[in-house]
Amino acid sequence: MVQERRVRVLIDEDKIARRNQEIAADIAKRDPKDLLIVAILKGSFMFAADLMRALHHEGLMPQVEFMHLSSYRDATVSSGQVVILKDVESDVRDRDVILIDDILESGRTIAFAKDLLAARGARVLTCCLLEKPGKRAVSIEADFVGFSCPDLFVVGYGMDVAHSYRQLPYIGVVETEAGE
Ligand code: IMP
Ligand code: MG
Repeated sequence: MVQERRVRVLIDEDKIARRNQEIAADIAKRDPKDLLIVAILKGSFMFAADLMRALHHEGLMPQVEFMHLSSYRDATVSSGQVVILKDVESDVRDRDVILIDDILESGRTIAFAKDLLAARGARVLTCCLLEKPGKRAVSIEADFVGFSCPDLFVVGYGMDVAHSYRQLPYIGVVETEAGE
């Protein structure tokens, strides 16, 4: 069984819900046409689900698709490669696409997905729940950002460490015990 560990809350449920509604209002102001949300799995599934509901409350009718990407990380390889594990099923040509990810760090994942969808003829805007400033390896900024994230490894609200903690309704940091 997985050992229970204390998680220090960084961003609570209410704060996330309020920010989601603000982001949805900002998206609505752009007056998107034929709006498609593309959520990058797995980390953004909870954020994307809540943002879809927030967009509904703004009077929009977004459709949703998922793209499962994996970044190849190896200490000996400096340029991280991104691999498509699952692609979107819809034709994205001439659509307003909002590409959703959990964290913008090096920027490789979202830059890869944005270029791919743009090459297929979509008008792509990007939306990240969190962004870690000063961590970019490629030059990309998100069009919509939930919160700036301190340089800590965060979990919850869809984000994991070793496949655990995705279920938490808030964003937090796993506390290490003294002596570990
Ligand atoms: P990048 O922008 O291509 O470096 O990708 C960022 C990805 O790394 C995110 O989508 C997360 O899956 C993962 N990631 C980065 N920092 C964290 C963290 O603090 N907690 C959990 N996942 C993280
Ligand atoms: Mg991810």
